Amino acid sequence: MTIKAVVFDAYGTLYDIQSVASITDMAFPGYGELITQIWRLKQLEYTWLRSLMRHYEDFSVVTRESLAYTLRTLGLKYDASVFERIMGKYVHLDLYPDARRTLTDLKRYKLAILSNGSSDMLNALVRNTGLDAILDATISVDSKRVFKPSPEAYSLIEDRLGVTLGQVMFVSSNPWDAIGAKSVGLNSVWIERVSPEAMAEACQNNDLVPPLTMFKALRMQMDELGLAPDYRVHGLSALAEILSSVPA
Ligand code: LAC
Repeated sequence: MTIKAVVFDAYGTLYDIQSVASITDMAFPGYGELITQIWRLKQLEYTWLRSLMRHYEDFSVVTRESLAYTLRTLGLKYDASVFERIMGKYVHLDLYPDARRTLTDLKRYKLAILSNGSSDMLNALVRNTGLDAILDATISVDSKRVFKPSPEAYSLIEDRLGVTLGQVMFVSSNPWDAIGAKSVGLNSVWIERVSPEAMAEACQNNDLVPPLTMFKALRMQMDELGLAPDYRVHGLSALAEILSSVPA
């Protein structure tokens, strides 16, 4: 196996989507975490529903619609400025602490993002966080008008980077994304940020399961779809070691 490119998912992998909670809680004190988790669950669900329905709208629309769903469902009143302030965090998400360093250390590979994000959102986010200086490409699924884990979305990597899928190490903390990539022939790494032991403990220690624990149970544990990634690590910083064991 010769790896020529390392391609990252954006939201939840390089960028901490939980970092929207600082804004959602400021806007709606006490509701921040609940908004944050429902919003992300619905956002992902809408990408899959829109793909299945063949009713593509880009990720900025999906993100707005899922936020509107969340605030409506929780019975929260808001005006346009509050809505825009929350949305604005999506182009200023926090990077995971080890993200910049990991990318810098892997500069000998072609480095890219492949994300469900729309081009506008991704380009703004990458620019605002300074990753434009490190990445060779920021690839949005937009041009295919379908979301990951559709095989068509992953095929953009070949077109844009001029490498075969087998020459790519794809990195995601989203289980469905890590196995989606694997199912089309990419080498894939799953970032397991919550171990099964920590997951079980969080469930046992809470009579009332907090929204974040539920989110971790639903979206951060490996799925039962008969597929598995090639590697399982606990943070981005472990990538260099994996990559050093395969020829560049
Ligand atoms: C991404 C989201 C879906 O593609 O995590 O970046």
